[in-house]
Amino acid sequence: MIGVESDTEIRFSSNTMQWTSVALIFCSVAALGWTCCTPDQWEGIGSQFSSYAGFFHHGLIKEFSNVAYDFTNNRSAVFLRYYSGDIEAKIKIVVRFDGEDEGGFLYVDHYDRHMCWKKKLEGKFRKCCIPKHAKRLGDFSLGLKGDYNVTSYDIKGKRLNIALTVQELGENVCAPVAQFAIGRVGYYDVLRNVGFVNITPGIKDETVFDVPPDCEDDWSGFDLPIDIDRQDYILGI
Ligand SMILES: *[C@@H]1O[C@H](CO)[C@@H](O)[C@H](O)[C@H]1NC(C)=O
Ligand SMILES: *[C@@H]1O[C@H](CO)[C@@H](O)[C@H](O)[C@H]1NC(C)=O
Repeated sequence: MIGVESDTEIRFSSNTMQWTSVALIFCSVAALGWTCCTPDQWEGIGSQFSSYAGFFHHGLIKEFSNVAYDFTNNRSAVFLRYYSGDIEAKIKIVVRFDGEDEGGFLYVDHYDRHMCWKKKLEGKFRKCCIPKHAKRLGDFSLGLKGDYNVTSYDIKGKRLNIALTVQELGENVCAPVAQFAIGRVGYYDVLRNVGFVNITPGIKDETVFDVPPDCEDDWSGFDLPIDIDRQDYILGI
């Protein structure tokens, strides 16, 4: 847990617990194979509505995020605006796996407050894919029939069950469209609805992956309040 002193910081820490509590698994760790994966580089806008209920706390969370995903260079970045009750926060999340060695870092920068958590991540940067064991639920189209075809999958995760809708682009590449997840994360029952729009291939501005200046100090004595890798956020999707 975070060492906290003032009231504001205590509030911040419980706020943090709420929003980290809704992070979810999607970029699967290691599976035997993939049905399809997102393009290696893309950007997009995600909006997410979540509810969580625990023994002491329950509430609703809205998040609007700009996502940049760069599997080619083992990194991702999410700028998100977070709303829960009367709490509003701007948060930047960067995941970077630099160099040949295994392992990387997760940076969570609360940039209104110039506070940053840094966490060492084991293993490799995760590829965002639908695992082979996902059950295909069906094909259908959005909007006018036949113009925009999508496919839905049911994925049973360790903590969450996910219904995921993607646009299939051929050659086992797919673009995220929508996701619905329900399950338990930490001490919370969680329900999430995520939509993606304006996805474009490639990375327009590499500086989004820079380590936030707030994270340059050594915060290694700190850790995220609960043990969830916010790198999973992206394939929320
Ligand atoms: C990305 O990580 C893999 C190992 O997980 C490594 O082989 C590869 O060289 C890395 N790519 C870059 C551009 O650093
Ligand atoms: C969507 O699927 C229908 C039925 O398979 C097909 O006729 C149509 O051409 C597809 N639309 C696009 C844009 O690929």
